Amino acid sequence: MGKYSHYDGHIDTLPMERIPEFDCHSHILPGLDDGAQTMEDAVYLAGRLAAYGFKRAVCTAHSSFLYRNTPETVVPTCERLQEELDKAGIKLALTPSMEYRLIPETWPEQRRRGLLPWEGNHILIELPIRQREQMGDIDPVNEIKALVADGYRPVLAHPERYLWAGREDFDRFREAGALFQRNLGSLEGAYGKESAQRAEALLRWGYYSFLGTDTHDRRYTDKFDKILKQNGL
Ligand SMILES: [Fe+2]
Repeated sequence: MGKYSHYDGHIDTLPMERIPEFDCHSHILPGLDDGAQTMEDAVYLAGRLAAYGFKRAVCTAHSSFLYRNTPETVVPTCERLQEELDKAGIKLALTPSMEYRLIPETWPEQRRRGLLPWEGNHILIELPIRQREQMGDIDPVNEIKALVADGYRPVLAHPERYLWAGREDFDRFREAGALFQRNLGSLEGAYGKESAQRAEALLRWGYYSFLGTDTHDRRYTDKFDKILKQNGL
């Protein structure tokens, strides 16, 4: 049973202790961000996700200070990768999307331009990992509320990694309407001890709705190969 056994009594709050139908967080589109760099890498990573049991993957290229993606960069790249997967016989259906970082340099422009949702209306948003100040005047609670008012379901990417955030912050994001996404590997320490402790607490409190892989490169899938094997998945 591995690391998951002690949660067995609370399984109702843990909808993701097995591989879900789709991965809602991945950086497998080639050449768009710090994820897959080549088509060959992208096909390899997609093949691993399919092997884990995912039927679909949402391709959430970064929209960040360094990676200024738009639907014009993401959609055609996603189509090209899908063609390669089909040719290679890899059964993984891709959805083009982005991981939107809430920073003044990119977020207001993305809002004006129009967002690329998955599952109809879900939007993956990311807050700074270490420095809350990078958000400038942007208040994540207001942004979450505005997204909800516009009919979106904002999904907070890996909140366990926001080392500045406390339970009060998480509660405010949740009350504003955000759903939470945990990274595969967080509990096992892939992002350090502090993130592992946060992931464990958030999981125990029942705050997570989604499990995503946040796959960037082979180092991620090598880790997942081990973690999933250890847990009999
Ligand atoms: Fe990501």
